Formats: sequence, structure tokens, C-alpha cells
Amino acid sequence: MNILEAIQNRRSIRKYKQDDLPEEVLHRILEAGRLAPSGKNFQPWKFIIVRDEKLRRQLAEASARQYFMAEAPVIIVACGFPEESYARMGRYMKSWVVDVAIALEHMMLQATAEGLGTCWIGAFEEKEVKEILGVPEEVRVLALTPLGYPAEEPPPRARKPLEKIVSYDRY
Ligand SMILES: Cc1cc2nc3c(=O)[nH]c(=O)nc-3n(C[C@H](O)[C@H](O)[C@H](O)COP(=O)(O)O)c2cc1C
Repeated sequence: MNILEAIQNRRSIRKYKQDDLPEEVLHRILEAGRLAPSGKNFQPWKFIIVRDEKLRRQLAEASARQYFMAEAPVIIVACGFPEESYARMGRYMKSWVVDVAIALEHMMLQATAEGLGTCWIGAFEEKEVKEILGVPEEVRVLALTPLGYPAEEPPPRARKPLEKIVSYDRY
């Protein structure tokens, strides 16, 4: 699968088989995140791989009770270090949100290429997630994703056409 095919095939998956994934597959997915670009190459991130069933259920509970997350054998919790990130992106913001998002999306695309499903989870209570996993105070949780073999094949969701989202030479 080339990169555009992975991008085209990726879907938010909300039903999972319980089959575990091979260690080497997980390793390639994590490697795809590790190689992501980041502001000044600071790599202000840590990814918690949650396999424990009880913890997965607690994380789903803390994510607006999206219990489908716990069906997958793995949940990845993407954390960022604001104080270790490039502080003047565009001269107005810290880069950690962008950095961690790029790395997680790299992982999600590699997961697609491996035949696995993911779903970006943004609806979660950060305080609860941090308590469940013992995340230090200064570390922020950006997103979670379940990772497992899909048990559904959702159709593609609509996207705006290129003419609406691209302009040339001027805004
Ligand atoms: C920042 C962000 C937060 C999201 N939060 C959730 C979520 O909490 N639960 C969920 O089921 N999907 C969530 N999604 C997935 C979107 O609903 C999904 O990407 C969008 O509808 C397009 O569908 P597709 O991913 O299948 O192309 C989120 C996506 C993003 C980028």
C-alpha cells in the first residue's frame, strides 16, 4: 500500500475484533510515529501503549463512555511536553499540539497499511485519563486511539472539494 492508498483507506473505526496484534506490527506503527517531524526536532512526546483490559475500560469510560475503544486490544494515549516544545511557532504558539498530532497520524496511517483500524479520540477528560495512567502534572494528553483489527468497513466520509480548500498565489 503506498502512502496515498493508506490515506484513502483510513477510516475512523468504531468496532473492533478482539484479536491481538503481532509485536512486530506494533513496532512498525510506533516506529512510524518516532520518525515524525517536530518543531526544532524536539520530539516533545510520549506514547502510552495500554493493553491491560481494566485500564482500557477505564479509558473508554473517561472518553465520554465511548466503550468501543476498549474492544480493541490496544489503546494508544498520545502525550505531549509543552515546556519541551518549540515555543515560538509562527511567533505566537508552542508546537507540541502539532508535533504530537503529526506523530499520531503517522502511526494511524501505518496502522492502516498494516490492515489495522484506529479512531482519533478527542472527547476525553484529560484529568481522568492522567489519573488512570499516572501521567505527571506537566505532561498533557492530546488524544487517544484504539488500535486493532476492524470489525466494520465504514464508507468514506465526505470531504470538501479541493476548489474550496485551496487557492493559488493569494488567499
Ligand atoms: C480532533 C479530533 C477529535 C475526534 N474525536 C473523536 C471522538 O472522540 N470519537 C470518535 O468516535 N471520533 C472522533 N474523531 C473522528 C472524526 O469523527 C472523524 O475523523 C471524521 O468524522 C472523519 O471520518 P473518517 O476519520 O472516517 O474519515 C475525532 C477526530 C479528530 C481529528
